Amino acid sequence: MVATIGITFLGTASAQPSSTRNHSSLALRLDGDVWLFDCGEATQHQVQKSNVKMGKIQKIFITHTHGDHIFGLLPILASRLNGAGGMAEGADDPRAQNLVSNMATAEPIEIYGPYGTRAYVRTGLKYTHTHLGSPYVVHELRTAHDPPEDSCTLPLDPAEQPGRDLAAGADGTWRDVFASDALAVSAAPIWHSVPCVGYAVAERPVPGKMVPALYVPHLKRTGTPMSVLRQLQLGERVQLADGTVLEGPARRPGRKVVILGDTYDPSPIAALAEDADLLVHEATNAHLPGIDPDTKATDTYEIVEERAKSRGHSTPQMAGAFAKRIGAKRLVLNHFSARYAGNDDVNEEARNVMVAIRHLAEEQYGDGREVLCARDLMTIDVEPRK
Ligand SMILES: *[C@@H]1O[C@H](CO)[C@@H](O)[C@H](O)[C@H]1NC(C)=O
Ligand SMILES: [Zn+2]
Ligand SMILES: [Zn+2]
Repeated sequence: MVATIGITFLGTASAQPSSTRNHSSLALRLDGDVWLFDCGEATQHQVQKSNVKMGKIQKIFITHTHGDHIFGLLPILASRLNGAGGMAEGADDPRAQNLVSNMATAEPIEIYGPYGTRAYVRTGLKYTHTHLGSPYVVHELRTAHDPPEDSCTLPLDPAEQPGRDLAAGADGTWRDVFASDALAVSAAPIWHSVPCVGYAVAERPVPGKMVPALYVPHLKRTGTPMSVLRQLQLGERVQLADGTVLEGPARRPGRKVVILGDTYDPSPIAALAEDADLLVHEATNAHLPGIDPDTKATDTYEIVEERAKSRGHSTPQMAGAFAKRIGAKRLVLNHFSARYAGNDDVNEEARNVMVAIRHLAEEQYGDGREVLCARDLMTIDVEPRK
């Protein structure tokens, strides 16, 4: 079971970072553990400035290999895995010895990403002479269009454990690329200008609501120890000395968080994303006449949407419509154009632009459901289901 599921947005910009937004990255906080989704430039700096602990990063999920989502990955690995730049060449160097023993005992940092993620990391480490002190592994989410061979022709990095090449299932998605007692991660391709995936993180069903008064009289009558309540709480069935069978409360569905990369149409992940407690969806471009002073006089919403799509991106309306389609309980927008500065403390104009973007998404989302526009270092919690 996971007590706390929270998100810290580390970067919320699209192609151009600005004084108010850094490149894409967000941290999913799962009790003590941290999983990063994308690692744009300056992710390491943003981790240092946030409530996220570098040493707690266990997994890194890459949506696509565009630079604004991956340029920050190598610095994170070098810091997290005690990398030594350029010096620890000799096998007698204590750091090289460390790696030998850590390769045998330490859990590797797991990286998931599309074809090419492994090559990017391995090549980057080699040609920057970066020597990691602990292991990592890259699992690639392969599509039928990817070449069948390894994305990298270099031999494994000394710190690299052989990763899996994950073939998509018959429905085109990758189910349970990671699964534990508490959580399962599935992924699906989403449409962008290059291969891109979205991730659905689902908590396993959690224990139901316990009403001890339903059980205690039976336990007393039969002289059964009260500790049996703990078994019942887990949903188990218990037979008492007199033959009475008690059944614990049925388990309730766990939480689901869906994190998309850049997209102009995330339809292929719709089934996996169904009923998400939280959907993170990009909204790169918006049409804001009278609000955004840079609006071209000749632009209409249709023109802006067409332009956004042709570059692989979405408008707030498209994000709101997808949130409605999958029945998401909450929608957070990210990956904004540099035109949308967005922090409350910038100026009134910037604030009005973000409020307008939010409203455009809310109109499509419907039922008075609220949309949030992410900003750098914003944190939110995903509350357990009632
Ligand atoms: C973006 O990252 C840079 C480098 O760490 C930092 O100086 C800047 O304050 C960050 N911007 C935001 C909005 O957090
Ligand atoms: Zn991007
Ligand atoms: Zn992109």
